[in-house]
Amino acid sequence: MEGITGRDFREVHAACFPGADRYRLPFLSPAGAHQLTPRQRRELDPGPLGCGRLLPQVLTKDPADFLWAASALAELGYGQVDLNLGCPSGTVVGKGKGAGLLRDPGALDRFLEAVFRDAPLPVSVKTRIGLEDPAEWEDILPVLARYPIRELTVHPRTRRELYKGGVHFDAFRRAAEILPFPLRYNGNLFTPSAVQRVESACSGLAGAVIGRGLLADPALITRCKGGVRDREALIAFHEELAARYLASMHPDGAVLPKFKELWMYLSLLLPEEKAWKRLRKCARWAEFHPLALGLLRESELLPEADFSRLSQADVVIKN
Ligand SMILES: Cc1cc2nc3c(=O)[nH]c(=O)nc-3n(C[C@H](O)[C@H](O)[C@H](O)COP(=O)(O)O)c2cc1C
Repeated sequence: MEGITGRDFREVHAACFPGADRYRLPFLSPAGAHQLTPRQRRELDPGPLGCGRLLPQVLTKDPADFLWAASALAELGYGQVDLNLGCPSGTVVGKGKGAGLLRDPGALDRFLEAVFRDAPLPVSVKTRIGLEDPAEWEDILPVLARYPIRELTVHPRTRRELYKGGVHFDAFRRAAEILPFPLRYNGNLFTPSAVQRVESACSGLAGAVIGRGLLADPALITRCKGGVRDREALIAFHEELAARYLASMHPDGAVLPKFKELWMYLSLLLPEEKAWKRLRKCARWAEFHPLALGLLRESELLPEADFSRLSQADVVIKN
């Protein structure tokens, strides 16, 4: 997830909460210069997890940019690259990228043809089901079906729906009927029982992809695999992530906003909605950190994160 689940997050998460089969990297948006910046290199360095447990993703509407990025990723040792057809942010869609590529199935077809003709790596795709209307999915599906997509992850919402309301599970089922390649489901998986329900509703499912649920409860995957949420692991995760960020970022200018974005989700695990209001008011890291740590140490934790409290107005629309 762009802006949140970067290298520090995934490495600290994997150390504190083993269980995730794979971590998806926040999208890489190639610039015209076709050169990775030092910051991108650091983010893309597979580190201790190794390429096999990481899936990098590219966001672009230009096949040449995609192919360049895929080659750069192959050189770094990655064995697969994911294409983003889901990002709903206004600036991204306005430029015809992310979910913007779903606007015109003919143009999408031409884009995919150029990508698959020369791709140096197997290509997977993560997509929404349309721009404005779920009915668009019927025109997108046959285009996707023409290409040897390594695996397709479907977040069954339109771009217009952003993250609001329910998902169109029927659209996901339709993909499962028609498409010949492995399918992964994504969207509103906030509890182990939700993951189980999706897995039993679709027998051929290649897997589930969890986004915000893992930010609200970093132990969610551990719990899906039969483990429990351990408070000490949660504290260790929080403190190690803070230490990693503080080693390279300004406490108030960069670490505080990153932690506020994380806590917008993590606070859904606390019974008191007021806790988030107090945290978001903090203007300094020195004020925020003891308050956050105190809550993790002393507050009761809900059995499941309460997503009914997530304010859509607060969600940072990056994808
Ligand atoms: C802040 C934020 C950043 C995101 N960044 C990405 C991204 O870089 N690539 C991507 O494929 N999806 C991204 N997503 C979308 C999630 O991967 C996921 O599709 C979406 O949140 C729905 O799943 P969930 O209900 O499990 O969160 C992002 C979502 C959010 C809220």
